[in-house]
Amino acid sequence: MENFVFRNPTKIVFGKGQIAHLARELPADARILLTYGGGSIMANGVYAQTKAALGDRTVFELSGIEPNPRYETLMRGVALVKEHKLDYLLSVGGGSVLDGTKFIAAAVPFTEGDPWRILSENAEVKSALPIGAVLTLPATGSESNGAAVISRDDQKLAFINPLVYPVFSILDPETTFTLPPRQIANGVIDSFVHVMEQYMTYPAAAPLQDRFAESLLQTLIEIGPQLMAKPGDYDLHATFMWTATLALNGLIGAGVPQDWATHIIGHELTALHGTDHARTLAVVLPSLLDVQRVGKREKLLQWAERVWGVREGTPEERIDAAIARMRAFFESLGVPTRLSGHGIPDTVAAVVEQRLAARKVDAIGERGDITPAVVRRILAAAA
Ligand code: NZQ
Ligand code: ZN
Repeated sequence: MENFVFRNPTKIVFGKGQIAHLARELPADARILLTYGGGSIMANGVYAQTKAALGDRTVFELSGIEPNPRYETLMRGVALVKEHKLDYLLSVGGGSVLDGTKFIAAAVPFTEGDPWRILSENAEVKSALPIGAVLTLPATGSESNGAAVISRDDQKLAFINPLVYPVFSILDPETTFTLPPRQIANGVIDSFVHVMEQYMTYPAAAPLQDRFAESLLQTLIEIGPQLMAKPGDYDLHATFMWTATLALNGLIGAGVPQDWATHIIGHELTALHGTDHARTLAVVLPSLLDVQRVGKREKLLQWAERVWGVREGTPEERIDAAIARMRAFFESLGVPTRLSGHGIPDTVAAVVEQRLAARKVDAIGERGDITPAVVRRILAAAA
């Protein structure tokens, strides 16, 4: 096992009716910027529950944070915080609203030029405003991690900093009952791929992390179709929500090699074509596993047997069968696993190769062997 430091400071408040207790988590004199998206929280009553719980605290609002949150919108939030001397951010919505809120938290105290430098140049974040979250979409793990992904023009970039972990996150599974099937499918696949990127590398003498990861994958495989068939089943939604959090809160990735290439490539597809985040992953991962099958061979065989129950055939046949099973799982949720299924032309392979080369993203994957040329092969094989 590799050395690691594990510290997850986010307090999770989980369950039915927990939004009502929001006030317990916030200082009585907090001056709050409440951030949200395009209106789902109005339609499902989460906004009303939140406002009721906030009592007579001072609250300003930033609405309209887009899926794949945009820099310009978030800078409006930065201006509101400065103008009204706000000191606490409260994100109410999915991963995009929360990621955007993390950027605002880091951008307000940033004094070294344009805060976009936090993303484009990895400029140091020295302080951040405190963030609370009411999560309405299980998928990203943003409710319990220090990552955020922000878009500007045709760029979609991530930053990670321990200062932007939410102080607390309220996870009420009932808020997810209104998710359309497309977002449920996206959430299941995004969580699945987060687990895979911390698991599907090479053996690291970490059997516990392996089994944590395998149990999360098996849970997602089990509940995915049930969530689609039985919307509104509390226990299913609760399991979904907690699984998505555990998939990317640092626990399963402690002490093991990781491979975030699928996400890095997927973000390029979203930046170029606007494709939903999870849908890009459903296209990239099957192809990446196929192309990288030599380096990942031992874990692919372990995964085939333990997660998919594939025990028959030669090693290559077992790997093929497991990848095919994963593809079929994604497609059973209504998500195509080929570029063509999302209307993305195969010419994107060369474009992404060039973009990554220009940004010097030239050695990704757990062994640093995924070069821009390999990315091109992966995307060409996903046409
Ligand atoms: O904007 P509103 O009206 O709220 O509608 C949203 C949005 O249209 C809707 N929605 C959210 N909760 C709902 C709901 N609709 C009905 N009922 C509810 N309860 O769903 C749509 C998608 O929301 P979004 O927040 O964009 O989805 P998600 O949570 O999947 O977040 C995706 C973003 O997170 C980033 C992605 O790149 C993408 O930008 N990621 C962040 C990560 C992190 N911070 O660690 C890791 C991930 O890998 C990912 O990259
Ligand atoms: Zn993701």
